[in-house]
Amino acid sequence: MTKPRAKTPAPRSEARLRLFFALWPPDAVRDSLFEWARTCQVQTRGRLVERSNLHMTLAFLGMVERERQKAVFALAARLKGSCFELVFDRIGYWPHNRIVYAGTRRVPPALTELATELSRGLAQAGFATEERPYVAHVTLVRDTALAPARIAASPLTWQVDAMALVESRHEHAGLVYRTLERWTLTG
Ligand code: 2AM
Repeated sequence: MTKPRAKTPAPRSEARLRLFFALWPPDAVRDSLFEWARTCQVQTRGRLVERSNLHMTLAFLGMVERERQKAVFALAARLKGSCFELVFDRIGYWPHNRIVYAGTRRVPPALTELATELSRGLAQAGFATEERPYVAHVTLVRDTALAPARIAASPLTWQVDAMALVESRHEHAGLVYRTLERWTLTG
């Protein structure tokens, strides 16, 4: 993985941070996803994910102690992920966690590879990783018992060229995500 293309703040020196690797959509993709989210929210009466929080998780780490955070950055820097095109062409609903999400029928091999490599690296570094197969999705609406109806929207294309390490924290205003670092994908 090449070095970060933008200067980002160093991690805070807190004892533990809740971390995950993610793909962070650029503004135009974010706007379209948010339109989808609003339409689905109206249909399902669930909780709309804030525009600024829309993302695709690659690997969820949970709480990471300060001593282990360096290893997480190092692992990402070693990865050799490639860029890819991602096309959102479906809206799905999972009753088990009550979320509505944007997904794709054509999962790019480079995305599967990236998620697999991250998961493998994290497991080798001693982190507990998700056992279930990776399912690429962007959560749009939470806490709903209703699946949305089909929405009339054209497929949405995203040229993915970077991944991010993100901190998640609950603040008074709600869930806040903060990008700690970005790594450019090559090719
Ligand atoms: P979700 O959107 O499907 O809920 C930050 O919490 C991100 O990590 C969210 O995108 C969330 O996925 C995902 N996430 C949260 N808890 C997780 C867990 N235990 N395993 C895998 N992913 C998780």
